[in-house]
Amino acid sequence: MGILTEAMQRALTEQRLIFVATVCPDGTPNLSPKGTVMVWDDDHVLFTDLASPGTMRNLESNPAIEINTVDVFARQGFRFKGVAEIHKGDDIHEAVLERMRNGPSTLNGLDSRVRSVALIRVEQALPLVSPGYWGGATEAQMRQTWQEYWSGVNSTWSENQAGAPASNS
Ligand SMILES: Cc1cc2nc3c(=O)[nH]c(=O)nc-3n(C[C@H](O)[C@H](O)[C@H](O)COP(=O)(O)O)c2cc1C
Repeated sequence: MGILTEAMQRALTEQRLIFVATVCPDGTPNLSPKGTVMVWDDDHVLFTDLASPGTMRNLESNPAIEINTVDVFARQGFRFKGVAEIHKGDDIHEAVLERMRNGPSTLNGLDSRVRSVALIRVEQALPLVSPGYWGGATEAQMRQTWQEYWSGVNSTWSENQAGAPASNS
């Protein structure tokens, strides 16, 4: 068993969004979202470079990386620190493209846009403290609360669309 527990691997597989932090040459942070996260094995997780020049440039000079992911319904998540290696035009790159072609519909059609793969060797993996649970909520209650919240956000969006003037297209 590697550093990534079963729960961590499930979260990384289910969640379609991670936030990736790298270090810029001037020492300032760079944080950007990635929707192509995949578990590679018990010790490695990856994302693909589709439109991340800043992240990839930073990794070339400093491979240090932290990623985190949060389930917006359960309000639980994990943070992972490690080092990233960039793969371009090799077996790993090709295997990831193959996975994307056969993977979830959220990745459909993106394989042809992949410029390289950032493969992260995870050196520290921790659950995130979630203060929302401090009042004693169960996960089921938490999911219910946040499902209602997001449902309301979506309803408001739909209502606003219905009232919006028709587009010219
Ligand atoms: C929901 C979402 C998912 C994204 N997924 C990816 C991804 O998997 N790979 C990628 O390269 N860019 C992805 N992007 C785009 C980058 O996050 C965006 O271009 C960002 O500005 C890149 O910043 P950077 O160059 O500092 O990394 C995503 C953006 C959003 C909003």
